[in-house]
Amino acid sequence: MIKQAIIPLAGLGTRLLPLTSVLPKELLPINGKPGLEYILDECIKCGIKEIIFIISKRKQSIKKYFYNDFFYKNLIKKRRGDKRLKFEYLKIKKYKKIIKFVYQDSPRGTGDAVLKCKNLIKSKHFLMLMPDDLIIKNNCSLSLIQLHNKYKSSVIASKKVNRDNVSRWGIFDFKKINKRDFLIKDVVEKPSIKSAPSNYAVIGRYILPQKIFNILQKQKPGNNGEIHITDAIRTLIKQKNKFIGHVFAGKYLDCGTMKGYINSSLYISRL
Ligand code: G1P
Repeated sequence: MIKQAIIPLAGLGTRLLPLTSVLPKELLPINGKPGLEYILDECIKCGIKEIIFIISKRKQSIKKYFYNDFFYKNLIKKRRGDKRLKFEYLKIKKYKKIIKFVYQDSPRGTGDAVLKCKNLIKSKHFLMLMPDDLIIKNNCSLSLIQLHNKYKSSVIASKKVNRDNVSRWGIFDFKKINKRDFLIKDVVEKPSIKSAPSNYAVIGRYILPQKIFNILQKQKPGNNGEIHITDAIRTLIKQKNKFIGHVFAGKYLDCGTMKGYINSSLYISRL
């Protein structure tokens, strides 16, 4: 049973400057609520009971967003009839109950962020969500959990991308199983157009095995001196661990770039 999720939130958000010089990108509003709340709702709706946030000292305001009880309580006392205020506070309290925080103080890559959760993960598999990647109209995490149960394997979300853009993503080499699922033969982090094994990209929803922590502990930095989760997955595949790729149904919104963020807000506001 997948009951725990982790969300790496320590990234600097440079692609969204100047907005992110003060505000964490995950708290930027998308049609009236922080992008992060969409991700939390996706987790809750697929039965996740504990969510681990990997933040940094610079991004303490993420913790404060969920721990501002004193502020809300005082305001509610003064404005007893304000139903919206109470509703919002109750929502925040519901999230707070299931969130834990760990810290990654230097941005050494997603693999390093994941490693910070080593002592908190209790079962053999866990869910990881990248907060830049919003998927709406279909609960992608739920589909991944169902496939994990079906194939008894790790699972990663995927999407066909434009061949010219492969160097923005992790890219799969695979063997098709059916219309939406494939067996992952290899995965390469941000390859050049020439060396890309396909144009099926890794999108930020993963069901990973607990044993990835042992791999990450020994892993040397890759591209840009960072510890990439993709490289650890690659090692696990080489060691004959089963990884399934799933071309999800739902609408993908890339909130990690300025253009994508603006378009995502517009798209959701028109729904
Ligand atoms: C990360 C992963 C990459 C994946 C992408 C999905 O990249 O390293 O493999 O394709 O998320 O959004 P980042 O967006 O951190 O550059």
